[in-house]
Amino acid sequence: MTPTQAQKEIQQLTEKIQYHNDLYYQQNKTEISDQEFDMLLKKLEQLEKEFPQFKQPDSPSQRVGGTITKEFATVYHKYPMLSLGNTYSQEELEDWDARVAKGLEGDAYEYMCELKFDGVSMSLTYENGLLVRGVTRGDGVRGDDVTNNIKTIRSIPLKVKGTDIPESFEVRGEVFLPKEIFAQLNKEREDIGEERYANARNTASGTVKMQDSTEVARRKLDCYTYALLGDHANTHSEAIHKLEQWGFHVSKTYQKCKNIQEVLQYINKWDTDRHTLPLETDGVVVKVNSLEHQERLGFTAKSPRWAIAYKYKAQSLSTRLNGVTYQVGRTGAVTPVAELEPIFLAGTTVKRASLHNANQIAQLDLCIGDYVFVEKGGEIIPKVTGVDMEKRTPSVTPIQYITHCPECNTKLIRVEGEAAFYCPNINGCAPQIKGRIEHFIQRRAMDINSLGEQTIRQLYDLGLVKSPADLYKLTREDVLRLDGFKDKSAKNLLEGIEGSKAIPFESVLFAIGIRYVGKTVAEKLARYFKSIDNIAKATPEELLKAPEIGEKIAQSVFQFFGNPENQTEITRLKEAGLQFESTAKEPEKVSDVLNNKSFVISGVFQKYEREQLQDIIVQNGGRVLSSVSGKLDYLLAGDNMGPSKREKAEKLGVKIISEQDFEKLLNGLTS
Ligand code: IVH
Repeated sequence: MTPTQAQKEIQQLTEKIQYHNDLYYQQNKTEISDQEFDMLLKKLEQLEKEFPQFKQPDSPSQRVGGTITKEFATVYHKYPMLSLGNTYSQEELEDWDARVAKGLEGDAYEYMCELKFDGVSMSLTYENGLLVRGVTRGDGVRGDDVTNNIKTIRSIPLKVKGTDIPESFEVRGEVFLPKEIFAQLNKEREDIGEERYANARNTASGTVKMQDSTEVARRKLDCYTYALLGDHANTHSEAIHKLEQWGFHVSKTYQKCKNIQEVLQYINKWDTDRHTLPLETDGVVVKVNSLEHQERLGFTAKSPRWAIAYKYKAQSLSTRLNGVTYQVGRTGAVTPVAELEPIFLAGTTVKRASLHNANQIAQLDLCIGDYVFVEKGGEIIPKVTGVDMEKRTPSVTPIQYITHCPECNTKLIRVEGEAAFYCPNINGCAPQIKGRIEHFIQRRAMDINSLGEQTIRQLYDLGLVKSPADLYKLTREDVLRLDGFKDKSAKNLLEGIEGSKAIPFESVLFAIGIRYVGKTVAEKLARYFKSIDNIAKATPEELLKAPEIGEKIAQSVFQFFGNPENQTEITRLKEAGLQFESTAKEPEKVSDVLNNKSFVISGVFQKYEREQLQDIIVQNGGRVLSSVSGKLDYLLAGDNMGPSKREKAEKLGVKIISEQDFEKLLNGLTS
């Protein structure tokens, strides 16, 4: 492709991606699938890599991350980020309205009502139409510069569109994890044996401050904007309309209200309707609409007098605990579930609620027959928050936590430091086996979409499949024994299984279901070790050398490969013809400037991920080694490097260089 063609293509792709992005976030419409969207983005990334000179400043490729921020810079807010006065009572709200009326000395005024979004507040600064900074609230006076992470949020415009755009302006909004994404994230965590995150708000807050923006991008945060600061409108409603026109994501739930009665109606309406929204909300924010009025009312030391938050009481109802059942997951973890007398709560009928673990049951002092308070918190699944002791009768029975697996009757074990009980019968307990096969076939793993939960259950019940490797032994006759399977569907199923043999190594590594090895970790391990054999023979110390692999994962991987049953399964999968080696091409040669010099990379870097550095070294004629020895040429030292490596390098007289020194080497400035 010629540079002129590339420039044109980059521009067209940029526009196309932006078009689909706006369509999705602004009009809630889609014209292409997620996969097609990702393909466009990949194509753009590729072209930008080849022709970096044509990358647009608002390129949507920034949405996929790729930056590491070790320490977030502190930034002072131009306008302090205040909090809001809040109330739970209608009376207090009416008193506040009276104070507003008094403060405005008889002038007519109106309100804007919005929902109070439960996320993390964010300040966004735009200059010449481009997003230049995203800063957290911090202590209200100064916050953290999280710009690189914020750029991955697709509903935040990198460049605003339309007319009438001030040269410089600041927008405030709430960054949140949509309920559905949060549930999905927890499902994925459970799937790899990690503990669930407690609530969406804290998870969003932690995500915004992650070091690796690629991971932030994967989390799919969203952002509703609710304020335009400075002198750019006459009323708040006008400011909100501008934000909408400029391409910001504004929740359509706002409403202008003529008086406090209308505000109360709004509050009542949304008390129940808010549960249908894609995110958690915990109240209503009432704002005086005219900016001139806002100015006249001013601020107290902590909050504006022109706005207030009306908070909904968490909806909590009491109902009878009829019993406790126990679920066994893929990893063998046992989860107790409260079986409740059905009640209608916040829009749905609730019959069951998770009790998380045995500690939780003991802490709540739960008994069968108790009346328990049930709440819909940050999770879609309701939770039991306490016992209504006034209603306790002598006839209640204390809960005896089970000692044996409800599925296979094996004695449960508890791992030190963990709250859950586990069934250790990994290869003989039905839900664990079926769960492992479900994990294996999922889209992000082997992607065998001709198989579903029902089919897996039947295959298991008929004794045809007891482990993923058995799938590859299935014959047409076997499949025809399943309910509803005829020639064509049987062929389909077998073709799906056959097709999975081409799935790349990193997905296979995720599919085999090593505890704590999620998709991202599998990708990192595959990239670093290149083959399953290398991973299987690695010691925990060697595993720890791979980028971002910590003690917990290293131990888990080591134990997995030490288990003879897992070894047999891997051998069978190998025999079936699955990909157990990385086919990723070696990075292409760019130069020989590093002249066969050897490097050990250690620590965390400002501009590069470790894998990027590895590639750059190899691409430029250098070699990457894993341990410091007298023969080593350079120790490339980032932050938080282990002291022993440094000491050893110093003792052996190995040159220790920084990221900047490395760049100089690359540019041929020193040797
Ligand atoms: S306006 C002077 N509008 O609530 C503060 N805030 O307690 C003006 N929040 O830090 C804030 N939804 O993070 C406003 N529709 C909304 C909001 C909202 C959520 C959060 C925001 C703020 C906190 C104030």
